[in-house]
Amino acid sequence: MKLDEIIKKDKKYFMNTYGDRVPVCFSHGEGMLLYDLDGNAYHDFFSGIAVSALGHSHPALVDAICEQAKKLVHCSSLYYIEQQANLAELIVNNSCADKVFFANSGAEANEGAIKLARLYFKKKGFPERFEIITLDKSFHGRTLATIAATGQDKYQKPYSPLTPKFNKVPINDPKALEEAINENTCAIMLEPIQGESGVNPATYEYMQAVRELCDKKGIILIFDEVQCGLGRTGKLFGYQHYGIEPDILTLAKAIAGGFPMGALCAKDFVAQAYEPGDHGSTFGGNPLACNAAMAVLSTIINDNLSENAARMGDFFFETMGKFKDKYPLIKEVRGKGLMIGIEFSEPIAKQVNKKLFEHKYLLGTSGENILRILPPLIVTKDDMDGLIKVVLDVLEDI
Ligand SMILES: Cc1ncc(COP(=O)(O)O)c(C=O)c1O
Repeated sequence: MKLDEIIKKDKKYFMNTYGDRVPVCFSHGEGMLLYDLDGNAYHDFFSGIAVSALGHSHPALVDAICEQAKKLVHCSSLYYIEQQANLAELIVNNSCADKVFFANSGAEANEGAIKLARLYFKKKGFPERFEIITLDKSFHGRTLATIAATGQDKYQKPYSPLTPKFNKVPINDPKALEEAINENTCAIMLEPIQGESGVNPATYEYMQAVRELCDKKGIILIFDEVQCGLGRTGKLFGYQHYGIEPDILTLAKAIAGGFPMGALCAKDFVAQAYEPGDHGSTFGGNPLACNAAMAVLSTIINDNLSENAARMGDFFFETMGKFKDKYPLIKEVRGKGLMIGIEFSEPIAKQVNKKLFEHKYLLGTSGENILRILPPLIVTKDDMDGLIKVVLDVLEDI
């Protein structure tokens, strides 16, 4: 089918939740490249919103999906699943978690985390402790509870009244957090590096203070690492930058390289609150998803892709840093590893992104001023050089 026919069909039959999309349809991909229907190659520096960590058509992922699909796609968690047990073991052995539960998306993993924190206190005899503190500008998903947890009006307004008792505080302000805690607070939930709202990292000092406050007041600390986890920031998990550990950790996006999956990971003391019947999922953790995730996670670990993310990120920050003074349109370049945001001094992010697309570079934006860069973790220095050159060319043009 031609692109214009696909667009026509989409407009007629698909709900209009995405509006006018970027006018391209991809037929296949390899490594850093995506190919459209006419065979044009595009450099993928957005990874389908931080998902394709191994790039496209990585043989480890393709083989894991194909081989497992030939044997068994699904059987439900009514039965023991070898791939599920193996994947849970791999995550536990490489993270601060003791137990894992598999869901199908980031929002679902976060729902599982919210439920778990509330249940923990209910089972301890404190049913009134169900309030959760989250951060302004956060993003936690699109279900009703995760919209309420999200700290952005634009996602919440259409769905008010919201699920109650998610209280918001600004990021990197320990005093505001301390003041927001009350006798009903059960958890604090935050992204170590906020992604969707424009790449805002929590500071080291803030994270120390958050952990300390949680310990002092007996509050569960939940890190939403749906976007910043799994090597993206230059360490396997975002929390590893801060010398502290959360009690609950959620993962999704890159975990199965594009096969839908989310993971709820927790320390034993809180995981124990989930008893038979308390939580579940029809698809979550099926053999196919787990085999795909096993391939992705093993490759990230064995090929040291977190280190590559750290090196490529450092290279980008260093190189762009040198050009910053020459290009007053660049206000700030921030982030960690390969979770990068360029903030412009003018509302030109969408214009820049459009021009980058014309140069066959795929990136994303946040609001009017921020360009987001989330390449696959396999990106090379040559790829990064190419991107920097094109970004600077586009800025020259503007
Ligand atoms: C930090 C964070 N949490 C949760 C989500 C929601 O994940 P999903 O779209 O898989 O439900 C996202 C998605 O962008 C995210 O960035």
